[in-house]
Amino acid sequence: MTLPSKDDILSQLSREEKAQLCSGKDFWHLHGLARFGLQEIMVTDGPHGLRKQQGEADHVGLNESVPATCFPTASALAATWNKELLREVGEALGRECRAENVSVLLGPGVNIKRHPHGGRNFEYFSEDPYLSGVMARQWISGVQSQGVGTSLKHYAANNHEYCRMVVDVVMDERTLREIYLPAFEIAVTGAQPWTVMCAYNKLNGTYLAEHEQLLGDILEREWGFEGLVVTDWGANNDRVRGLKAGQALEMPASGEPGVAIILEALEEGRLTEAELDHSVGKVLDLIIKGREAQQCTEEADMEAHHRLARRAAAEACVLLKNDGPCLPITDGQSIAVLGALAQQTRYQGVGSSQIIPYKLEQPLEEFQRAFGAERVSFSEGYSLAGELTAAQVEEALRVAQAAEVVVLVAGLTPDLESEGFDREHMNLPAQQLALIDALAPVHHKLVVVLQNGAPVALPFADKVPAILEAYLGGQAGASALVDILSGAANPGGKLAETFPLRQSDVASDAWFPGASRQSQYRENIWVGYRYFDTAQVPVAFPFGHGLSYTSFEYSDLQCTGAGGEGGALVLGESDTIDVSFDISNTGAIAGAEVAQLYVGQLEPSVHRPVRELKGFEKVFLQPGETRKVTLQLKWRDFAWWSVADSRWVVESGQYRIHAAASVADVRLEALVDIDGGAAANRIADNCSLAPDPAGFSDSAFARLLGGAIPEAVPVFPIHTNSMLGEIKHSWLGRKIVSGIKKKIAEDFGSGMSAGEIRMLETIVEEMPLRNLVMMSQGQMSMKTLWRLVHVMNGNYLKAITGAPVTAR
Ligand code: BGC
Repeated sequence: MTLPSKDDILSQLSREEKAQLCSGKDFWHLHGLARFGLQEIMVTDGPHGLRKQQGEADHVGLNESVPATCFPTASALAATWNKELLREVGEALGRECRAENVSVLLGPGVNIKRHPHGGRNFEYFSEDPYLSGVMARQWISGVQSQGVGTSLKHYAANNHEYCRMVVDVVMDERTLREIYLPAFEIAVTGAQPWTVMCAYNKLNGTYLAEHEQLLGDILEREWGFEGLVVTDWGANNDRVRGLKAGQALEMPASGEPGVAIILEALEEGRLTEAELDHSVGKVLDLIIKGREAQQCTEEADMEAHHRLARRAAAEACVLLKNDGPCLPITDGQSIAVLGALAQQTRYQGVGSSQIIPYKLEQPLEEFQRAFGAERVSFSEGYSLAGELTAAQVEEALRVAQAAEVVVLVAGLTPDLESEGFDREHMNLPAQQLALIDALAPVHHKLVVVLQNGAPVALPFADKVPAILEAYLGGQAGASALVDILSGAANPGGKLAETFPLRQSDVASDAWFPGASRQSQYRENIWVGYRYFDTAQVPVAFPFGHGLSYTSFEYSDLQCTGAGGEGGALVLGESDTIDVSFDISNTGAIAGAEVAQLYVGQLEPSVHRPVRELKGFEKVFLQPGETRKVTLQLKWRDFAWWSVADSRWVVESGQYRIHAAASVADVRLEALVDIDGGAAANRIADNCSLAPDPAGFSDSAFARLLGGAIPEAVPVFPIHTNSMLGEIKHSWLGRKIVSGIKKKIAEDFGSGMSAGEIRMLETIVEEMPLRNLVMMSQGQMSMKTLWRLVHVMNGNYLKAITGAPVTAR
């Protein structure tokens, strides 16, 4: 059947049909339009594998899904710094979506890792916006090259889990522009994701699902986003305001009550038909584009994808330390493998991204396969729950002492790192730390392998010779790990985030994640290495760090661009500067170096980081080989956001260009004079703070915000955005909460891991009341909820009339 054009379809739709299209049909499908030959398309998680649920649906990864390739999670993929690899992983994910007739994969997540404690850090790429944006752009291009859409999420300022559905992120404009938006901007302008998913939270008082500035002004008009904005699952606050702001699709389904709200708003003139058509047009575009994957009959080559997952996981391994060198394990050495995680590997995070791997390797088995069972001994050492016993330590010491090399697999357990809640500390489980302490003095070849999605404290860093950060490496992480330890693969990953010495060193620590449903981003632009490097705060391992079994030399840095008066390079808004340098492999084996390009202004008129990442290239070199790397710097790479002018400015003056092996290992430096358009020494904007947490005071923050720090939303009176955890003061509230918990226990019952239980409990406690209406699928109307709220507030008369409640 030939498909009519989108405009033809739109012109023939009734208002009801239009209103219906703006919400899901069910948890994972959009409505179809059978009379036009349009079937329901499926959208689903993501991001590091496909979570296609065929039976019961949920948005936190508890019900079954079809087996899929579990690739390393985003924080691991970012540590590869490999643009081509990210595209390849995207292509493979796209192929699996096609094979399962999924039209949109819900990812990637590009939120900034603001603090190591962020619960979903494992799902995010980096603390740096440029690296996050480039990785996302590559991943999106890969998936979409297969005719499958993506959903860039969670737009924006969604950097922790605390009160995630209602929290108000309070942030100044420069920080938003320089730190929290660029990753989205790079991905949108560079790859046009089919959809962008707006986040649960508020930004400066407004829910992202209805944020006109972010959805309309910035995303659509400034960046030219052509796709559709979908809400995160259950993120809609005010349906009509959302549509007016540029949101097109509400997920999951809001059913008849959702349709009624739109129709009523049209009747009353609060929403125009043109506004509704704008959203419906976007939904139709998506359904039409999604048809190809929906009708696809191809199969995916799962074995090829497993091999790709293994290569990606190996490239993600970051060799933090290798004294001796202790690694690689040499021929014939006997190996003691220790740790419960060697048998029950941690390879992905808990929550909506959790998938069922098509097959799963375990480290111990891979060691035995690669080195031969006779060379490998094993002791659990610690268990995943409970205390470390004297017998366990004794046994581990005995096994360790009988071997030439000891590999201890340590890491965060799922109850410590998950969607839904933030981490409370940076420590590894105490039993693991105690075991390392017991082993370190008695074995001089102790290799600690880490499985985690974000930085952990490494109090043993000086006591052990080797540490390998393996991240959450996906289903083939174990063979990849063995590839690295055996030297079959040369480590070429680098940290996409700083490993601080302690959590209190992080600039946002005193305000992270927040209190009273508010999260104040007082640290301004001082996130990750921008802070540590500029304020010269020592770290355990710096951003960009990673060792190799070979060595690299950098030479011959050249910067060329159009010359101006006095030798300055003139840089108009569309001009570029070429930066080139040579890299040589000076060691005896082949390997890859991630060369990083940092830019910093010498005498800025506002506080700026000493250097910021503006380019990188991963270069594979044979021993003795030299290659020239050429990277381009654009005008924006020198710019800062002026709040006074509400635009990017490049001050004329001197800039340093650094070619570096990490942010703390600058190999080559050039100073260039830039004529960038804005005069040097402009009158200082009120938009910056010195990188010193002692100065992040109330008054300094208010100055950044351009007004008083907003009051937090009080708990009482109860309103439709009160969280379930906030209504337990009343008998009715307690009844509602216990009813929901009972239902969840019935639905999911036993079989949940400790992490899943904790996640679910937090999600229930922090769920806003308004979501009960959506969850009830038509059984509870908003008016009924208003009545309940009035009862909980003791306003019985209003409960009888069903007067509206203002949501906050
Ligand atoms: C998560 C999203 C996810 C969605 C659907 C939400 O709770 O925040 O990242 O895509 O659920 O599962």
